[in-house]
Amino acid sequence: MAKILKFPENFYWGSATASYQVEGGIENNDWAEAARAGRVPPAGLSTDHYNKYESDFDLIKSLGQNAHRLSIEWSRIEPEQGKFDMDEIEHYKNVLKALHARDIKPFVTIWHFTLPIWFAEMGGFENRNAPEIFSRYARFVVSQLSDLCVNWATMNEPMVYAWGGYLIKDWPPFKTAPLTFLKVVNNLIKSHNLAYKKIKELEVPVDVSFVKNNVYYTSNNKIWNRLFKVFVRWFYNHRFLRKTKNCLDSININYYFHYQFGGSKKYTQSDMGWDLDPEGIYHVLKELIPYNKTVYVTEAGLADSKDIFRAGYIKRLVFWMHKAIEDGVKLKGYMYWSSLDNYEWKHGYSGRFGLITFDQKTLQRQVRSSAYVYKKICEDNGLILE
Ligand code: BGC
Repeated sequence: MAKILKFPENFYWGSATASYQVEGGIENNDWAEAARAGRVPPAGLSTDHYNKYESDFDLIKSLGQNAHRLSIEWSRIEPEQGKFDMDEIEHYKNVLKALHARDIKPFVTIWHFTLPIWFAEMGGFENRNAPEIFSRYARFVVSQLSDLCVNWATMNEPMVYAWGGYLIKDWPPFKTAPLTFLKVVNNLIKSHNLAYKKIKELEVPVDVSFVKNNVYYTSNNKIWNRLFKVFVRWFYNHRFLRKTKNCLDSININYYFHYQFGGSKKYTQSDMGWDLDPEGIYHVLKELIPYNKTVYVTEAGLADSKDIFRAGYIKRLVFWMHKAIEDGVKLKGYMYWSSLDNYEWKHGYSGRFGLITFDQKTLQRQVRSSAYVYKKICEDNGLILE
C-alpha cells in the first residue's frame, strides 16, 4: 500500500503573489519610475489581477488551495504622504472578502518591495524618520482590514530588499554603498518593531510578523570556509530575526537558495539559473527551532516556463517540510510562489514561477499541469510516496 506523509490537521496549503507583480496599472511607485527611466522593465498591465482577482481566486479554489498570500500596494493606499485613499482600502476589503467567500485564508504582506514615489524621494528607508512613516502606514492598513485578515506581515524579505537596492545596484535606488546598506537594514529592523507595537496598540486579534528569506549555507572542511559559513549564516539568516524576535508572533520564511562555501556540487537549475535544492528547506526550517514559534513557509517555488521540473520540485519541498515537522518545526502552512506568472522584478516577464500561466496579450489564464500535482497534495493534506 502506498505510504502517505500526512501533514498536521488544518495545515494551510496555498500560493502567493505580490501587488506590483500581478495587479497591473501601478504608476506611482519607485519601480514604475525606474521603468520610465529605462532602468528596469515596465510592469504595465501585468496579469490585471487588480480587476481579475475574483476569477483568479476561483481558479485557486479549484486547485484545492485553502490559503493565499497577497500584498497591499503602499502607493495605492498612501499616494501622497499622510493622505490615505479610502477607495483603495475598499478595493482590498473586496479582495479579502472574495477570499473568505471561497473559504481561502488570507495572509497579507503590508509592504512588498515597492515604495510610493514620495517616500522614495525622501530617501526611503535611509531616512531616519522611516520607522515612523512606515509604521503609521502599517497601522492604518491593519486598522482598516483587521476583521478580514488575521495573519499580517509588515514587510517582505528586508535583507533581499537592502541587498538589491544598496549593495548590488540591481533594484531602486540602484546603489552600491555598504554603509548605507547597513543603515537601511537597521532602519528596517526598527520599522518592523515599531509597526508591530503600533499595530498591537489597536488591540485587535491579529498575528504580526514579517517575511524573511533564508539561505541554506554549507561549507567544505576548510577552516575559513567554515568560518565564513557561520558568520554569513548569522548575519544574513539570523541577525534580523534576533533583533525582532520580541515583536514576532510567528515566523514567515521564504526559501529559494543554497550557497556552498568551497563546495562545487552541481544541481539542476531553474529558468533563473538558480540551483534547485529542495532539501535546503529542511535545514532552513530546522534553524528556526530555537525561536520556538509557529512557522509558515510564505514562498518557495521555481521559474520553469516549460513546467518540466515544477511538480517534482514541489513534491520534494513537501517531503522535506514534512521531515522538518517530524523533527520539531512548528510548521503550519506552505504557500507556493507563485499563484500565477508575474512581473519578476528586473527580469520582467521572463521568470515564470506560476502554477497558472497567462497570455500577455489576451490575459487568458491557463493552469499548468504541475498545479494539479500540487492540488492532490493540498486535498490529501499530504504527499503520497510512490
Ligand atoms: C520575492 C518575490 C520574487 C521571488 C522570486 C522573492 O524573493 O518575495 O517577489 O518574485 O522571490 O524571485
